[in-house]
Amino acid sequence: MVEYKIEITTGDMIDAGTFDYIYGTLIGTEGESERTALNNIGVDFQTGMTSVYTVKARSSLGKLLLVKVEKEPFFLLPEDEWYCSKIVVTTPEGAVILFPCYRWISRGELVELRGGKAMKVFEEDHPLLIDHREKERTLKRSLYQWAIPDERLPHSSDFKNTSELPAEISYSKSKSMEMLYSKTVIGAELMFKGLYESTDQWEKIEDIKKIFVSKKTTKSEYVAEHWKEDDFYGYQFLNAINPNVIKKCSELPRNFPVTEQMVKPFLEKGSSLKREMQKGNIFLCDFKRLDGLPVKVYNNESLHVTSGFCLFYVNPENKLMPIAIQLYQQPSEENPIFLPSDPETDWLLAKMFIKNADTMQHQSVFHFMSTHLMAEVFAVATFRCFPVIHPLYKLLVSHFRYTLQINTAGRTSIFGREGILSTSSLGQKGIAELVRRSLSELTYSTLCLPENITARGLESIPNFYYRDDGLKLWNIINSFVTAIVEYYYPSDSEVRKDAELQEWISEIFTHAFLGNKASGFPASFNTVKEVIKFITMVIFTVTAQHAAVNNGQFDYYSWTPNGTLLLRKPPPTTKGQSSMKTIMEALPNVGETVSYAAMGWVLSDKYTDMVFLGAYPDERFDEPAPKQMIKEFQAELACFSVAITTRNSQLEVPYTYLDPKQIENSITI
Ligand code: FE2
Repeated sequence: MVEYKIEITTGDMIDAGTFDYIYGTLIGTEGESERTALNNIGVDFQTGMTSVYTVKARSSLGKLLLVKVEKEPFFLLPEDEWYCSKIVVTTPEGAVILFPCYRWISRGELVELRGGKAMKVFEEDHPLLIDHREKERTLKRSLYQWAIPDERLPHSSDFKNTSELPAEISYSKSKSMEMLYSKTVIGAELMFKGLYESTDQWEKIEDIKKIFVSKKTTKSEYVAEHWKEDDFYGYQFLNAINPNVIKKCSELPRNFPVTEQMVKPFLEKGSSLKREMQKGNIFLCDFKRLDGLPVKVYNNESLHVTSGFCLFYVNPENKLMPIAIQLYQQPSEENPIFLPSDPETDWLLAKMFIKNADTMQHQSVFHFMSTHLMAEVFAVATFRCFPVIHPLYKLLVSHFRYTLQINTAGRTSIFGREGILSTSSLGQKGIAELVRRSLSELTYSTLCLPENITARGLESIPNFYYRDDGLKLWNIINSFVTAIVEYYYPSDSEVRKDAELQEWISEIFTHAFLGNKASGFPASFNTVKEVIKFITMVIFTVTAQHAAVNNGQFDYYSWTPNGTLLLRKPPPTTKGQSSMKTIMEALPNVGETVSYAAMGWVLSDKYTDMVFLGAYPDERFDEPAPKQMIKEFQAELACFSVAITTRNSQLEVPYTYLDPKQIENSITI
């Protein structure tokens, strides 16, 4: 008889433990062990517990292939699912092998775990493992299926609601409870104050500050104080929640006829627009993509969505100042160019309408489509194409934690007919059409930050912390991905030979980018370099980019005048006709305002079981090399976090969204 030591760890989340009987069987190249009841004196398999058991075999099992785990009832107790984190086996020969599990196990379920080093499909040489690998993929492909809710939007998983999701990818109980608590507390406060669903109009702008007593952030308070100021307005197009639109302007669009005379007073003395353009100090936001979209009908009237331009100037103090706004694409007498020297409320309204267009585009395109919907396709393709033993599954799976849960919920509550975006000036149809247009224009370069920044001519614009931190993070992620990918793919031929990897990228090309070759997205991989770039983009998108466009929702949008999805009145068409009353009438009513602020709070709140960038609490790699690479990645991120803190201590408005300590490892909210 020979003895194998097996060490089993139960998950540390609420209710991870079980009172059921657990049996273990080891399967090796030379035979199977006894089916052994894993039972020590006292309780076993409780939350966070690691216990050691002995499993006997008649003789050495040779190379260990699988660990079979079975769960059976303990007398008449009802089923309590068990979350098994990992099993570590020590063989009589002294080898220590990790079998990652990280899943819930039910009674009667067949669970056969693979362990040891990561394997690509063409490296498998044992018939049992070849068969096991294919069976696992077949099962996963039936579990995770594609749905096409709209031919021109990224495809999704076919889970209709969150109750259909497999337990492994659902929110933990603690997260669900905390979210529910947060929503209840917010709802109760708003209800108590009579704000919830109130159709009243705000009387005074200061009253908006009364929404939440307990829920404030330093930034949300700063925004409420400074939202009217031009330099803070400009700052937000670089460092708030939507740094994705602004670009360098070296020639004015023909349909935006700003003259030298108009903007001269706002430029450096003696300078001109032409000269400032040559010096690279002029920038533009162009909302052309919103032109002609369907709009929401509100109180029997069609709302107004501006598709115009905002021109910016980097002044000698390095501040980005808005200097001209035209609210629609076609210049006309009813579509004048607004200037900072216009009556205060005209200029403020012009800025608010531009911000309204920006907010709608931010939430639907740069947040929902470019991070959430992309992440869902990356996740579903990963679950379908890679077995758990594949090195890229081991690398990527932590980056998709909870993503299908938030997206399945968000498809209704954010993007659906009754969702929060349907309350915007564009309404649900306009928002959906905007996303369709945006997807058809999406390119691979847009999602790769270094190329994105160059394409927009933003390499040297001053005080652009999103760019500075984002590029640094891109490089840190890229170095980590390079190390891992080169370790598992020493040559390009390994990339070409990996049928599962080719299937993965092909599914992503079809289901995220709808097979659009002009987008520049790869449909297959030929080189190691291509794989590294794509996986860097995937990890960057679902971590840093999502944090940049998600985490500041409460900071910047809870003070609705600064950025609102809805404006209820038409924008000014002539100058000198507006007043503060016009602004108050245009702002969302009390109930709408509080629902936006509440959404911002829930979606940028912190929850106790958050996992931050690079943390990888699930141990999935068994080889020392990738474990070391993870440690180096974490050290680089920690170092960068310190640098950000030091930089931020000098800033009036700290830029925190790309601090690795604030970035989640996946899209969970
Ligand atoms: Fe989000």
